[in-house]
Parts: sequence; structure tokens; C-alpha cells
Amino acid sequence: MNQKLFNVLLVEDNLGDAFLIQEQFKSAKTFEYLIVHVDYLAKAITYLEQCPCDAILLDLSLPDSQGIETLKTIGKKAFQIPIVILTGTNDEELAIQAVRQGAQDYFVKGQVMGKVLVHALHYAIERKLIEEQLKTRTSQLEALNQELEAFSYTVSHDLRNPLTVIKGMARLLKHKYELEQRDEQEQHFLQHICDSSDRMEQIIKDLLILSQVKKSELEIKPINLSDLARKIGDRLQQQAVRKVKLTIQPQIIAIGDENLLMHALENLLHNAWKYTAKEQHPCIEIGVIDSNPAEVSKTLHKTNLNLATISDLHQRNRIRSAYRNLIYFIRDNGLGFDMKSAEQLFTPFHRLENAKKFEGNGIGLAIVQRIIHRHNGRIWAEAAKGEGATFYFTLAI
Ligand SMILES: Nc1ncnc2c1ncn2[C@@H]1O[C@H](COP(=O)(O)OP(=O)(O)O)[C@@H](O)[C@H]1O
Ligand SMILES: [Mg+2]
Repeated sequence: MNQKLFNVLLVEDNLGDAFLIQEQFKSAKTFEYLIVHVDYLAKAITYLEQCPCDAILLDLSLPDSQGIETLKTIGKKAFQIPIVILTGTNDEELAIQAVRQGAQDYFVKGQVMGKVLVHALHYAIERKLIEEQLKTRTSQLEALNQELEAFSYTVSHDLRNPLTVIKGMARLLKHKYELEQRDEQEQHFLQHICDSSDRMEQIIKDLLILSQVKKSELEIKPINLSDLARKIGDRLQQQAVRKVKLTIQPQIIAIGDENLLMHALENLLHNAWKYTAKEQHPCIEIGVIDSNPAEVSKTLHKTNLNLATISDLHQRNRIRSAYRNLIYFIRDNGLGFDMKSAEQLFTPFHRLENAKKFEGNGIGLAIVQRIIHRHNGRIWAEAAKGEGATFYFTLAI
């Protein structure tokens, strides 16, 4: 059976070390290694330009190049080739830095020898191969995702106009039938058309928001979430027949994009409102948990300022990092849900068992999650069946 042959470029100016390393590979059993040895970086570059290579063993201190520059220069010629650093005991720190900059691994010369060295190089080759496959797959998936989002944007955008016509015509017809006091069944059918087109309009609006969140330009500034929540709450209170006790902690400040955070809060509050419908005493609470109160209160007085007007970068970063410690929450005492299904909460179009008797399309939380992720934040929920739900989120813009 033919053994697989790996071409390895050994870049090492110390001839003794180079000899020892080559010897280790000669006795390798599982695979065969063809070691090509060069002692100058320039020679290594010339070799890479002309010959195929599966891995590079690289000493960073060469006669014509020193330190991390050696890796950077060779890295430009060896995009997909794993590079393993050879180092002496006194420059291990440099080798670690090299690994951070893309080298696969490092060996301290004289300490790692024999089979260990051969195995480690082989793993480095395998790892790099998997990394490259992963990169290719990720970029394929990203491209597919973008295509899908563009598709969903175009479809929803193009569906809006005909739908507006259907809605308008159905309303006119309904009005006409009411005036003419037509057959009740006909009026009933028309009511169905109107209701369905309203629902469809909502789905289209949500799909458009969903596909736009990732692309929209963010306008970052301090935002008073208490004021936003109050506005949304007032609107919900006006539309609804039932009363809900809404407790909003004063002065909840966040740093983010007002328009997007408004959408997120709207969805979270709508849900809390909807899923408390069966409660005798529905309560919703909006607040913030401060995991580092001292830092935040030090900076709170600045929140009326636009971040862009704070010229001192250090001060601006301090304000930002203070807000990263905050966990915002929306709590309700409604239906709740089984935590076993918590993972599916944010999947577009997915509705949990508890939602069957309520209107909705299952896009709301997917939008909220995208908005929070757009702000580099996290969102999660805690709930129990029949005992209400709390949604938490952080923002780290
Ligand atoms: N406050 C809440 N209490 C209980 N369940 C909730 C709550 N918010 C969301 N859910 C569950 O998460 C699902 C997804 O929410 P969402 O995407 O907003 O969809 P929709 O509200 O249209 O059903 C809901 O269908 C429901 O099952
Ligand atoms: Mg919803």
C-alpha cells in the first residue's frame, strides 16, 4: 500500500538542529515525510513560490529575518499551509505570540523530539486542513445566508404593494356591503379577507425588519429605556380592554440604537402583554440589574450627553464599559413556558406549545435576538410553565 507523503519545509539556520529534526522524521512509520531544509528566509520564499508544501517548520531567528516578522513574511506566501514554530527555551514568549498570529503550534528545540515531534506536526497538518474546510464552509454558509436574506427582503418588499391593493379593495367592498345591508354571510367572508390581509401585512412587516436588522446603520447614543417602555405601554393600554399593572423602573439607561431598541422592547412587551391575557392580575415589570453599581452611578450623570460629543476617548470607553455590566429584564406573571423548549424561543417562525390559542407569527423574538446581537449583547429567558417568564438582555456596543 502506498504511504501518504508529506512535503515539509524546514527553515532553520542551525545546521545541528536541522540535522536532528530531519533524523526524527526519517524513522516515522505511519506516514512518509520529505523534508526540504533551507537556512534563509529568502530561500524559503523562493521554494514556496515553486514547490508544493504540506507544512512549514520555522525557526523565527534567521540570518535574514528576526522574530515575528519572519512569520508574517512567510505567512503571506503560505496562506493555507500550517506553520509550526521552532524555538529555543529563551524565546518561548515569542513563539506563543506567533501562535496567536496564526501559527499552528510551537516546539521548544531539544525538548520535543522523536515520535512526539512527528505526531505534533501531523496533528498540525490535520488541524489546519479542518480549519480551512471550516473556513470554506463558513463562507459558503454566509453567502447562502445573505442570498436568503436578500430573497426574503425582495419577496416581502414586492408582496407589500399587491397586498395594499387587496386590503384597500376588500375594505371598500365591505363598506359598500354594510351600506347596502347585504347578506350577513357575504359580509362575514369579507371580514375574513380583511383580517387575513392584516395578519399577512404584519408578517411582511416583521420579515422586512428581520432581514434589515443586520444591515441597518447603527446610530449609537444613550437611550432612556424607561421612556420608550412607557410609550409602548401607554399605546398597549389604550388599545386593550383589559388593564395590566406595568411597573417600569425609572431612568433605565442603555447605549444603543434607539430605533432598533424600540423594536426589541415593543416585541418583548407585546409578548408579555399577550401571554398574561389569562391572568386575573396581570403584572409586567421592566428593570435593570446592575452588576457593578459603583461604576455605573459614577457615569450616570453623563447619560444625557450624546456619546459622540464626549471627545475624550478614555471617558467614552469608561461610559461604554460601565453599561456593559447591566442586565436589562422584562418580567411577566403570565403563561410562562417549559424551560426545555427555551432553545427554540428565538428560532424564526417557531412558536411554543403555550402560544396555540394566541395570535402571532413567531418572528418577534427572532427580531429581538438579532437586534441584541447587533449590539454585541446576549439575550436569554427564565420561565416555568404557568409561572410567568423573564427575558434578560445585555448590550455591549
Ligand atoms: N412572555 C412570554 N411568556 C410566555 N411565552 C412566551 C413569551 N414570549 C414569547 N413566548 C413564546 O415564544 C414564542 C416566540 O415568540 P415570538 O417570536 O414573539 O412569537 P409570537 O409572539 O408571534 O408567538 C411564542 O410563540 C411563545 O410561545
Ligand atoms: Mg411576539
